[in-house]
Amino acid sequence: MELIIAANWKMHKTVSETIEFCRSLRSDEAAFSGVEVLICPPFTALAAAAEEMTGSPVKLGAQNMHREKQGAYTGEVSAPMLLEFGLEYVIVGHSERRHLMGEDDTLVAGKVEAAFASGLKPILCVGETEEEREQGVTGKVLERQLTAALENIAPENISKLVIAYEPVWAIGTGKAASAEDAENASGLIRNLVQSQFGKGAAAGLRIQYGGSVKAENIDSFVTLKNVDGALVGGASLEAVSFSALVQAARKAVRN
Ligand code: PGA
Repeated sequence: MELIIAANWKMHKTVSETIEFCRSLRSDEAAFSGVEVLICPPFTALAAAAEEMTGSPVKLGAQNMHREKQGAYTGEVSAPMLLEFGLEYVIVGHSERRHLMGEDDTLVAGKVEAAFASGLKPILCVGETEEEREQGVTGKVLERQLTAALENIAPENISKLVIAYEPVWAIGTGKAASAEDAENASGLIRNLVQSQFGKGAAAGLRIQYGGSVKAENIDSFVTLKNVDGALVGGASLEAVSFSALVQAARKAVRN
């Protein structure tokens, strides 16, 4: 399966910083072949990124969306608005949105459904907190998050879905999960999808690991049986380090 590596910039980069990043990344894009690469800028920089990345194999994603197409939802952005920029992906249910903005499983499920309905591919984030991990309930948390998010999804959409396993304690902490933990959780995710949608669908599902991924440790994740890429925060903010990370991933799966 082709690796998928996504840059999640979070609340970083103005338009001018975005342009600078894109120009730098484009000078390396020929070295990314065989890896699906996307960048997810903030909404305000999407237009600039779309213009700069015209003709590039590097794709664009958004970091969030509202489930409704339009309406009285001050400050929100809808799928049709995102599609205007030629976006292909949207991150849904990131732990920062779940924990800092109060998004619950039902709300996340609505966004997954709305993304598919509009033609966007959701990158659905799941993962346990440190407390949940210490209580030994990681499996239960993943099952609860996935069952809710996939409730109304058609089986043929699973091949367009990306699930990002992001243990909350590993995000932005410099403390990445061990390869063993990432593989165990990803295997569990694939099994859960298999029990609901069947073996064929589960085999076509792409699962990313996210949480303190960098060029120096990406090889230990992308070579795992059940991991097909990474969702990258901090290490995606500099074009040079993000490019190095993508190239390290490509090299690791080729060896
Ligand atoms: P990080 O963030 O790479 O900075 O840990 C990952 C994420 O939140 O998607």
